[in-house]
Amino acid sequence: MSDEERERADKASVSRRAFLKGGAAATGALTAALIPGTAEAQLPDATEPDTRHSTVEMTVNGRLYRADVPNSTTLAQFLREDLKLTGTKLGCDRMQCGACTVVVNGRNVYSCTTLALQATGAEVLTIEGLAKDDALHPIQQAFIEHSGFQCGFCTSGQIMTTKVMLDRMPNPTEDQARLALAGNLCRCSAYKKILESVMAASRMMRA
Ligand code: FES
Ligand code: FES
Repeated sequence: MSDEERERADKASVSRRAFLKGGAAATGALTAALIPGTAEAQLPDATEPDTRHSTVEMTVNGRLYRADVPNSTTLAQFLREDLKLTGTKLGCDRMQCGACTVVVNGRNVYSCTTLALQATGAEVLTIEGLAKDDALHPIQQAFIEHSGFQCGFCTSGQIMTTKVMLDRMPNPTEDQARLALAGNLCRCSAYKKILESVMAASRMMRA
């Protein structure tokens, strides 16, 4: 490389470094500007675990619970580990399978990606809250009578989603039921029997 070429390369390298440095500073300033009241130096260190705790209070299956939990506790963890309601299953733990579905204020939600804190003050229904006085809920009964499961791992989620759908839409078509249950996967692929169970539950609940 000639002296002239070396000098040109050095200048280009310096200007790339200056650009990257300026860009990083600009990104920090932009972040601080986008989060009101947050100075750049006060941004949380993402590598540090969040150790803060909060009090959560919610009604689960008609009973009021109050507990102090780490802020990062998911609703699934709270139900399964704190309340020992293990009928709610954890499959993917990342919003992809529906095994963890519970009902919160009348809506089916994935409890693996809902924080317990977000459910504070809510009415939560899990599979354990469906049967009344030892009598199975019609949806549970229909799943048994129509063999709506194989290993059963997805079943509580399927049933809780079915509960929300039938509360809102008591007489669905098969296509409407398929659509409502699209977020609940079954690794055993028992979909035909699940659908039969759901349609039977709809008939039983309307009788
Ligand atoms: S465990 Fe929650 S969606 Fe799969
Ligand atoms: S019955 Fe096994 S995953 Fe659905």
